[in-house]
Amino acid sequence: MIPVNQPWLGKREEELVLECLRSGWISSAGTFIAAFEQGWADYCRRRYGIAVSNGTAALQLALACIGLKPGDEVIIPAFTIISCALAVIYNGGVPVLVDADPRTWCMDVEQVENKIGPKTRAIMPVHIYGHPVDMDPLLNLAEKHGLAVIEDAAEAHGAEYLSPRNTTNSVWRRCGSFGDLSCFSFYANKLVSTGEGGMVLTDNPALADRARSLRNLSFQPHRRFHHEELGFNFRLTNLQAALGVAQLERMDQIITRKRLMGQNYNRLLKDVDGLELPPEESWTKNVYWMYGVVLSEKIGMDASQFAQRLQRREIETRPFFLGMHEQPVFRKRGLFVEESYPVAERLARRGLYLPSGLALTEEQLTTVCAVVREVLS
Ligand SMILES: Cc1ncc(COP(=O)(O)O)c(C=O)c1O
Repeated sequence: MIPVNQPWLGKREEELVLECLRSGWISSAGTFIAAFEQGWADYCRRRYGIAVSNGTAALQLALACIGLKPGDEVIIPAFTIISCALAVIYNGGVPVLVDADPRTWCMDVEQVENKIGPKTRAIMPVHIYGHPVDMDPLLNLAEKHGLAVIEDAAEAHGAEYLSPRNTTNSVWRRCGSFGDLSCFSFYANKLVSTGEGGMVLTDNPALADRARSLRNLSFQPHRRFHHEELGFNFRLTNLQAALGVAQLERMDQIITRKRLMGQNYNRLLKDVDGLELPPEESWTKNVYWMYGVVLSEKIGMDASQFAQRLQRREIETRPFFLGMHEQPVFRKRGLFVEESYPVAERLARRGLYLPSGLALTEEQLTTVCAVVREVLS
């Protein structure tokens, strides 16, 4: 079986984790935490990093930091992981959806303004499967309406966005450098993985202090066991941070490998009739976190039938996200009832992703492409 994901771990990870074990710094104090926080913030060109236990916690913490109040609305994409909606709901807020853009699979930025109302507090752009959201118009909208931006860059480590476009002073900016706070996951299938883990980045010192305090049960700096706010235990361990530090040392290699994997898939699949390949707009550098494909309607099967056929030939895949408005858990709570997001619905039914882990070999990738071609021919 060619697995959908296999992490790429090396000697350096082993060495640094052993250092934690030998020194006894296995919990959430220890030098690797601060090193990982600063290293990741520097990589993303941000000032402050606050490591947390996972990406869902990062989103929840970021929204708590901006002081989301019950009933406040946060605009999120319909086509995303449930963590985005959960983070809003855990903070007492209401997620408001926009459809995906068929060109990028990310939130359709042109649909956002229509969803802004008196209760809107924030926008949460999510870079889907490694492709950046069109950030400039979104940031302009947020500024115009006085909204916070919580960027979810969980799937877009090292992806880049050209800003501003069509000018002589454009620069490539990394995903995770936008908005008031940006959030990451370091789950095992992410480009940088700490097993479980996450981070919040910001340039704002007050938000950074607040995030640090809320992450750790809101302990007061001057008087221990004295709490003035409802905090969380979202701490990352030194053992996990050690993995992150080891991978940061070879970040360029990780990105190069991932982009090459995407380009190889593109090259070998580009002429397969009826197969839509992942986007890469000219103003982006996609990192192909997961190499997604979409079956056009002329192919007489949907993504789940396609996945079964690949599974029988020992290729593991994963379905695309099911839109937030189609989630039974939200429908039961009366959310998104009778809402429809046709692009998200199509992606959910016709999309899946192929093996994309960093440990995937060129030979395995070639086999996957040959099998895809055979199944679709
Ligand atoms: C876009 C996005 N946001 C948030 C998360 C949540 O991260 P975690 O699984 O670490 O909680 C994920 C997880 O894969 C994700 O893809």
